[in-house]
Order: sequence, then C-alpha cells, then structure tokens
Amino acid sequence: MHQPHAERRRRLMADIGDGVALLATAPEAVRNADNHYPFRADSHFLYLTGFSEPEAVLLLDGRSGKSTLFCRDKNPDLEIWEGFRYGPAAAVEAFGFDEARSLSELDERLPEALSGCHQLWWPLGRDAAFDRRVHGWLDQVRQRFRSGEQPPARFGDVAALLDEMRVIKDASEVALLREAGRISAEGHIQAMRAARPGGFEYQLEAELLHAFVRNGARQLAYESIVASGANACTLHYSANNARLADGEMLLIDAGCEWQGYAGDITRSFPVNGKFSAAQRDVYEIVLAAQLAAIAAVRPGAGWNEPGDAALKALAQGMLDLGLLTGSVDGVIESGGYRQFYMHGIGHMIGLDVHDVGQRKVDGQWRRYQPGMCATIEPGLYIRPAAGVPEALWNIGIRIEDDVLVTHNGCEVYTAAAPKTVDDIEALMRGE
Ligand code: GLY
Ligand code: MN
Ligand code: MN
Repeated sequence: MHQPHAERRRRLMADIGDGVALLATAPEAVRNADNHYPFRADSHFLYLTGFSEPEAVLLLDGRSGKSTLFCRDKNPDLEIWEGFRYGPAAAVEAFGFDEARSLSELDERLPEALSGCHQLWWPLGRDAAFDRRVHGWLDQVRQRFRSGEQPPARFGDVAALLDEMRVIKDASEVALLREAGRISAEGHIQAMRAARPGGFEYQLEAELLHAFVRNGARQLAYESIVASGANACTLHYSANNARLADGEMLLIDAGCEWQGYAGDITRSFPVNGKFSAAQRDVYEIVLAAQLAAIAAVRPGAGWNEPGDAALKALAQGMLDLGLLTGSVDGVIESGGYRQFYMHGIGHMIGLDVHDVGQRKVDGQWRRYQPGMCATIEPGLYIRPAAGVPEALWNIGIRIEDDVLVTHNGCEVYTAAAPKTVDDIEALMRGE
C-alpha cells in the first residue's frame, strides 16, 4: 500500500551509501494559549514516510538498509481526548518500515545507531532544536570514543539530496497533484459562479473553501488571494474584505492541499461576468503570454524558455496598450516592463506550493524532464501613474495553471477552470 514511500527510502539509501540519515517531522506550532495550528508534517519527512502524526523521527541506516520510525506511543487515555495515534506496532504494519520504536527510546538508541557510521546525513541547519539533539547524540558517541566507539567524521545535508529527488514526480505523486488540481479548479468554478457586484471578497473565499473541504481537502496550499479592483495589483493581497464593485475585475489565486500535495491556480474575471473592452484587451495579452509559455514547456527546454516566451508576448502587449514606448527588445533590455510585470513565470510545485529544486544546475538553467511539475503564471498589474492610459488603471490580471512535463510537451492538469473570455462569460451567465 505504501510502496512509493518504501521505494523512495530505498533510493535515498542508495545515495547515502553506508551512511546514516536522520529526519524529523515538523514541530507543532502554538497559535494562541493552548490552541495549535493544524499540524502539517515536514514535506521531506512526508515524502519518505507518508506518516503524518506529529513527533516522529526517521532513521535510515545505509549499512543494513533498514528503516526505523520513532513515533508516539499508543495512549488510550489521551486518545479519548485527542483521537487515534498509531503507536509503533501499528505504524510498522501500516507504513512498511523495517521497525518502529517509541519516541521515548530515541535518546538511548541514536548514539548506538551513529556509532561506527562514517557519514551522517540530516537536514543540516534547518531546525535549531533538531540540530541540538543531533549534536547531543554525536557528543555521546564521542565520549565513548576511548572505549572503541567511532563517531561519524563526515556530515551531509540530506535535504539537498531530497530536494533533487523530489524534482521528478513519481506516478503516485502525479495522481495526487492531478487531484489537487482538479479540486482547486472546482473551487475556482464555484467562486466564479458566486461572484456578483455588492458581494464581498471573503464570500468568494468561503466558496473556494467550501469546494475544497467538501472534496476532503481540509487544508489550503497557501492563503487564498481574492482581490477585486485595485487590490489585484497587490501581489500577495490577503485582506479579502473589500466589497465587489460593478465594472471591476477580480483576481483569485487559490489552491487546496490534497494529501500533502499543492494546487495553485489563478483566474481573473469581471465581477459582473462581462469583460469591458479595456479589460478584455489586457486579459487577451496575459492569456496569449500564458499560452506561449505553456507551449514552451517540453523535455529538453531550459527552465528560462517559458518565461522568455511569456515576457516577449507581455512586452509586445504593453507597447500595444500604450503602457510603454520603444521596442520589445528595448523594454526587456531596460527592464521597463517591470513596472507592470514584476514576478517570475512560475515555480515547481509538489508537496510544497513553491516546491524544492534549484532552477540552475551547475550554473546552467535546469532542463525540463518528464515528471517535473511547475506553475505557469504571467500577469499584468496596472497601477495608476502618469502616462498610463486611465481606462487601464487598477486592472490586475494573472492567469496561472499547473503543468506536468510529459514526453512530448506538457499536460495542463488544472485546465478545468475556464480561462478564455468566452468560457468565463458563459460560465458566469450560468451556462
Ligand atoms: N499563490 C502563490 C503563487 O502563485 O506562487
Ligand atoms: Mn498562485
Ligand atoms: Mn504559483
């Protein structure tokens, strides 16, 4: 049942040779008084285990090939209050570890596990509290040095190995990402249907949430952005409390998390369901830029190519709209376009919405490979300014989809959320 996780553990152990790797899940976070934020496991930990309880540590021993989970014990009294916990015996069965032990044995067993291993891998410097615990276990091995115990002499950052592994999604991850995309698109459709002048941004935030949770996606991949009118020109707007005005555009950037995997979709549409001429002009430019970028996503293409294609289309559009003067190459060269388009084309997506993986490898742009997933999200944000045609003031438009690189191009797996002018208007008319 949990074969993909066991397979990932095997692959990581192949990378660490006869070393030992240690990973802890995320700490719990207090929200206020005795309330906690909903617990979210560490993404690397989740990738290797599928185990989403708090307070857990994974030990992988490359010498024996054995995986050990340390987790909370069963506790019938506490479980009456807080609900089910696996406990080591059930966790071993359900998640396919070689063994599982009580978390209370960690301090006793770890020095033993580290003794005689040449290289220790852990997410170095990512969590000060866990770093201190690792130092403590290492100290214990060193203290026993004279009685023949050998402490590891080399250290590696296991997070860097995992970052690279996670760039190419395996089949089970692709299935989860597609589902995150499907549910996220359903949220956008529900919000489009519910939008009307006089309503509030947060009412559409509620529509998104309703669609997500109804589908079993209880967490957001990130805070929803529901930005009408001028708010759409604030890139990370999250107040979501303005009234929707007739004649304004609305930008919604929202995605759910499905079994740990993120969806990330942006749609922009008129509050009243009908694009004005100016809104349509800007919209068609952003859409053409997005389609040009998507067409550039294929195996072997450099990470920069979709962004370059989108930027050319956007720059031409800025000239056509009278936002800038000069030539396409000129406004790209000078960076003049940044007044209206100030972010990148997108990011990898997976267990984290802004997923791991370097964009450059050995100083060169990473090449797309089948199994990579990324967002494509160009935009234009036109704030009032001298020289900017007034008809375009406060139009902020972004169109964002999530794509999976295939053998000959890419699959846009968030395409269910409509994005042509005709399709959006038809949906908003109730068709
Ligand atoms: N919603 C965050 C992003 O689009 O990157
Ligand atoms: Mn987004
Ligand atoms: Mn994004």
